Amino acid sequence: MALTFDLVLRGGVLVNHDGAGARDVGVRAGRIEAIGDLSDASAGEVVDCAGLHVLPGVIDSQVHFREPGLTHKEDLETGSRAAVLGGVTAVFEMPNTNPLTTSAEALADKVRRGHHRMHCDFAFWVGGTHENARDVPELERLPGSAGIKVFMGSSTGSLLVEDDPGVAAILAQTRRRAAFHAEDEYRLEERKHLRVKGDPRSHPVWRDEITALQCTQRLVRVARAHRAKIHVLHVSTGDEMDFLKDHKDVASVEVTPHHLSLDASLYATLGAKLQMNPPVRDLEHQKRIWRGLDQGIADILGSDHAPHTLEEKAKPYPESPSGMPGVQTLVPLMLDHVHAGRLTLARFVDLSSAGPARLFGIAGKGRIAVGYDADFTIVDLKRVETIRDSWIASRCGWTPYDGRRVTGWPVGTIVRGARVMWDGEIATPARGEAVRFQDAL
Ligand code: DOR
Repeated sequence: MALTFDLVLRGGVLVNHDGAGARDVGVRAGRIEAIGDLSDASAGEVVDCAGLHVLPGVIDSQVHFREPGLTHKEDLETGSRAAVLGGVTAVFEMPNTNPLTTSAEALADKVRRGHHRMHCDFAFWVGGTHENARDVPELERLPGSAGIKVFMGSSTGSLLVEDDPGVAAILAQTRRRAAFHAEDEYRLEERKHLRVKGDPRSHPVWRDEITALQCTQRLVRVARAHRAKIHVLHVSTGDEMDFLKDHKDVASVEVTPHHLSLDASLYATLGAKLQMNPPVRDLEHQKRIWRGLDQGIADILGSDHAPHTLEEKAKPYPESPSGMPGVQTLVPLMLDHVHAGRLTLARFVDLSSAGPARLFGIAGKGRIAVGYDADFTIVDLKRVETIRDSWIASRCGWTPYDGRRVTGWPVGTIVRGARVMWDGEIATPARGEAVRFQDAL
C-alpha cells in the first residue's frame, strides 16, 4: 500500500550537518515521517524540489524585534515576516524592549503576542539584571524562554550588568547556557571622549578590541568559578577567537554575517548604517573571525538583527543608534560565502541549525530526522540575485547590503510542515509557536 503524507518534498538534495544526499522527505502532522525514495507515496501537497537543496530550518538565535515599546522600528509580525522571507524558520528574540523582558509577566506577554502572529517559531531571551538574579532558575525555564541574556556593556536600551559580582550572582543560578554581550562598560565609559561628533569611523576606536577582549576574559573567569555554561554573542575580534579557543569547555561562540561580510572601510559610504555594537572592524579582524569559523571555534551564526529607522540613523554620530537589520539577509549572504568556497554547505547547516539545537537544548529542531519538526529552508544554490532595500520586509526598510549581488537564495521556508514562504511570497497565515526546550518539556 502506498504511503500517504500531508506533504512530500520531492527530488531535492537533503543536507544535514554531516553531509548531503538526494532524498525525498515525507511530512505528517507537522513532523518528519519518512526520508528516502518516496516516489510512490501519495500526499496532500507535493513540492517539487528538483535542482534545490533542502536544509534543516535555519534558527537565528539573536534578533531584536522591538515589540513591545519600539514598534516604530519593528514588531513581532514584521520582524518574523522578514525572517521567513529570508529562509529563517525560528528566532530567539532579545529582551531590550520596553518594558524590558525581565519578568515572567513580560515574557508571557511576548509569548502571547507572538503566538500565531509571528510567521516563524520563536523563543524570547529574558534579560538578566541585578534585581532578578534570584529568579533566574524559574525565568530560564518558563514556556517560550530561550534562557538568560546579559548586557555587560551598555547598548540600545537600559539593560546592564557591568560588574563581576553581578554576573556571578546570575551565573550562580543558571542551568541553561546564558548569553552575553561582552564589552567592558568601565572601559567604554573611560573612552567616551574618543567619539568624534559626526564621524562613525570613531565608533570602533571608542569600542576597541581591548574593550571586547577584556570583558570576554572577565566573563570566562566568572563562568569558570561558577562552573556555568556561557554563550559569547557576536564575537568581533581575532583576539577573542584566540582566547576563546582555550575555553570551549565553558564558552560557546556566535559569529555574525556582518562581522564576516563587512569591514571598517565601509564607514566611508555607509556611515552610521554600519554602526553596530560590537563594531564592524578592519579586514584583519574579519579574516581572523573567518579563521575562527574555519577552525571550528565558532559554534553558531546569529544575525543580531537590530533595526533602527533611517531618520534615527541620520542623526549625527554618536546620537545615531547602533544596530542594523540582518535576519532576512543571513541566508543569502552565507550561501554566497558557500558559493565563494569560504565554508561548506554542511558547515553552514552546522552553524545555523544543528549548532543552536545543540547549544541551547532545543527539542525536535535542528536536523532533518524522522520525528523532528518539519522545518526546512529550501535554497537554490545557483540563483543569482541582487539584495535591495525594496526587498526588505523589516519596518526599518533598509539593509547595509543594498546593491550586493549574491549567488544562492532561499526559495522556500517551511515551518512545521506548512509552506510559509515560497518564491518570495508569504504563502500561509502566520502560525508561529514557541520553541520547546529539552529541559522544560
Ligand atoms: O548594535 C547593537 N544594537 N548592538 C546591541 O547589542 C543592541 C542592538 C539594538 O538593540 O539596537
